[in-house]
Amino acid sequence: MKGLCCVVLAAGLGTRMKSGLAKVLHPLAARPMLVHTLGNVLALKPEKIAVVIGHQADKVRALLPPGVVPAIQKEQKGTAHAAGIGLDALRGADGVLLLVSGDAPLLGAETLKGLVSYHKRKKADITVLTAFLDEPFGYGRIVREGGKISKIVEQKDASPSERKIKEINSGTYCFNIKSLKQALRHVRSANAQGEFYLTDVIEIVRQGGGRVAGMPVEDPATALGINSRVELAAAEKIIRTKINRSFTASGVTIIDPENTYISADVKIGPDTIIHPGNTIDGRTEIGGGCILMPGNIISDSIIGGGVKIKGYSVIEDSKIADKAQIGPFAHLRPGSTVGIDARVGNFVELKKASLGEGSKASHLSYLGDALVGRNVNIGAGTITCNYDGFSKFKTVIGDDVFVGSDSQFIAPVTIGKGALIAAGSTITEDVPKDALALSRTPQTNRKNWAKENRGRKIKKK
Ligand code: UD1
Ligand code: CA
Repeated sequence: MKGLCCVVLAAGLGTRMKSGLAKVLHPLAARPMLVHTLGNVLALKPEKIAVVIGHQADKVRALLPPGVVPAIQKEQKGTAHAAGIGLDALRGADGVLLLVSGDAPLLGAETLKGLVSYHKRKKADITVLTAFLDEPFGYGRIVREGGKISKIVEQKDASPSERKIKEINSGTYCFNIKSLKQALRHVRSANAQGEFYLTDVIEIVRQGGGRVAGMPVEDPATALGINSRVELAAAEKIIRTKINRSFTASGVTIIDPENTYISADVKIGPDTIIHPGNTIDGRTEIGGGCILMPGNIISDSIIGGGVKIKGYSVIEDSKIADKAQIGPFAHLRPGSTVGIDARVGNFVELKKASLGEGSKASHLSYLGDALVGRNVNIGAGTITCNYDGFSKFKTVIGDDVFVGSDSQFIAPVTIGKGALIAAGSTITEDVPKDALALSRTPQTNRKNWAKENRGRKIKKK
């Protein structure tokens, strides 16, 4: 929006969170709260944005996209003080200011746009975004006289009759910058919290003859300000419901949306079916026509189309090609790749391993730092011994290799194409292509030994 300036308040610690982490850094749908708020504000394409930071400033600053100006508030003296610091950082800003609280991530771009338009239409000095709540406890109350907003009174300063008011301050406003600057000079801290309240500018501007408007938000639930973990959980639920709805609308079946946890940056193709208890986060992309059985945890992974993930698998920072099958109870650790039509079965762990097209590791294996070709069969219980206690080494297995069960590869080791590893072998040396490698101790059978020794007492030490 042309000529629009924004200030986002995000300097507070958030005492009521009872946390070592600054409030705006707490995750919501796996993204820091402030990232949601900033996303809403940035959608308006303002000309200038300042974010007021203080507590854990370095971590908060790291979240700011290029072009967003950090404004440092060393001491948190209240929202009016913070607003002043934000304005100063916008140097010479003029016109309309949208001021948003970092802890109100549910106020969407449409609502914010609506507020700015309303403010302009009303030619107001201040427009407060308000909400009618059945349980207004904790919020600043909108006091009206003859229908017009006369002031905002904070919970702690409100009289018993003011506390009954159900119209609350969402903490988001539009200001005429000149009027705000002037009013801020008159804000004092003589109140229950000893803070400089931004809400005081309403009464100041009105008494000076300015125009104060109020715009109630359409969906009061979006006015939720997050101050405690209870509110954090409530917001999480609202955001998660919204995310799941949008996937459902785009053709994804979510069998139990209440028990499906998908974060904001995830992409999922149509006709994918997601069973309950899946957590999908980070920058995960899942193709169409996949089936995710219950209980998987998938993060930062790229999954092709038609993939089946049988339940209770953990997939981190990995790539899975079309039509592969994973699990149940598989673990793909970072840097793993599973080829087209390949299978990773139960209790198989991959770490920085790639399994080529059509290859199978179906049971009880560890493949770490391994490069496995196409159409390879990895027998049950195969282990790549990649670590000698000092360094990690690679195992390379060529195409069409058959690895018998219970084999170990003492890396570094390379197995040529088409080789056969006899079950129970410990492979310490490279195997040429098409060879049979067998490294078992020859078996001896002692005739009748068991029978003759049966019942013999074993001496106790
Ligand atoms: C504020 C409003 C209240 C409103 C509510 C909506 C005031 C005085 N009260 O109360 O009327 O109903 O929001 O959720 O404004 N912050 C700073 N620096 C400071 C103080 C706060 O950056 O010195 C930031 C916080 O990090 C937070 C935001 O401003 O993101 C709001 O502060 P908070 O303490 O949460 O205000 P509330 O008590 O919720
Ligand atoms: Ca708040």
